[in-house]
Amino acid sequence: AEYDDMLKKALNGARFTKEEVIFLLKPEKDEMDALFQTADRIRKAVFGDYVHLRGIVEFSNFCERNCLYCGLRKNNRNITRYRLMPEEIVDIAAYAVSIGYKTLVLQSGEDSFYTTGLLCDVIKRIKERVDVAITLSIGERDFEDYRLLREAGADRYLIKQETSNRELYRKLHPGMSYENRIRCQKDLKSLRYELGTGNMVGLPWQNVETLAEDIIFFREMDADMIGIGPFISNPNTPLGRFPSGTVEETLKVLAVTRLVNPLVNLPATTALGSLDSFGRQKGLMAGANVVMPNVMPVNYRRLYEIYPSKICTGERPEACRHCIEGIINSIGRKVSTGYGESPKSLRRG
Ligand code: SAM
Ligand code: SF4
Ligand code: FES
Repeated sequence: AEYDDMLKKALNGARFTKEEVIFLLKPEKDEMDALFQTADRIRKAVFGDYVHLRGIVEFSNFCERNCLYCGLRKNNRNITRYRLMPEEIVDIAAYAVSIGYKTLVLQSGEDSFYTTGLLCDVIKRIKERVDVAITLSIGERDFEDYRLLREAGADRYLIKQETSNRELYRKLHPGMSYENRIRCQKDLKSLRYELGTGNMVGLPWQNVETLAEDIIFFREMDADMIGIGPFISNPNTPLGRFPSGTVEETLKVLAVTRLVNPLVNLPATTALGSLDSFGRQKGLMAGANVVMPNVMPVNYRRLYEIYPSKICTGERPEACRHCIEGIINSIGRKVSTGYGESPKSLRRG
């Protein structure tokens, strides 16, 4: 009954403390469905039955960083690297729009081959050719770079904090700084990007307290989007001997994130779909309102190997577009025909 009371508080718009968030993250087996249903109700009150699609363009798998969990890390020699040339990126983007995407995410490792000037040019050319919202997900750059990219037409930026715990962040990101990661997110907000942050669930050394802190961190960042996916253990990385996160734990974090951040765009992530063939459906029924299908040509897909057994590596972009609409309709929802801007950004005007 105490758990149900807390869910009622969520429906009434309560501002939860960290202790309350920890409590919400620990439902008994028979309370779990009530948590997911409450997150689903809040999602529906904000977004109705519409699910937004974001087409992901994975334009380079080169990376200069060495994040301990990621298959794209610089020191991984067990991966075939590729880089798309600017005209290929523009062509793939235009094709994605022609098959029904209104938002694209241009994602890569941290790859300085793509200078800010080059990327500005790519963004401008895409926007001249097609009507689409552009999200960048290319890691840490300076304020001035972010400013120029925004000016060139980038609308949104996805840069996950991964963990809000300083010590754990440091352990996982050699040569990187917690403070700079936060600086990036603040710069992006001040430049009026829609900001996407997020975390991984099931990282080694993580616990329910750090997960609760992540959820509070998302609220403090005033994020527009929050990407939450399970950590998936990759044998070609230093974390290869640790177990992956679980679907259940990820769904709990997703649902509680919806309770604490009612207005954010929340994707049912590819990583969740890769752990469980119904992972994305489960996410969409536990608070998520976004899906991010791959729009890359088939020949590149299996090379963007962040983690093993990634879904959709053999499908063509049209196949995924068709598949995802089927998934969305099968749970009684509809594909949105809008750009899916954050309701917060609408409020900001
Ligand atoms: N390089 C950019 C960055 O790090 O922000 C964007 C690309 S990076 C591959 C995109 C996301 O992949 C990261 O934010 C991280 O959460 C996720 N990721 C990396 N390794 C992962 C793993 N082993 N399991 C699950 N997600 C992972
Ligand atoms: Fe590079 Fe991003 Fe992977 Fe880190 S998470 S190694 S920055 S691609
Ligand atoms: Fe790619 Fe279903 S979304 S095969």
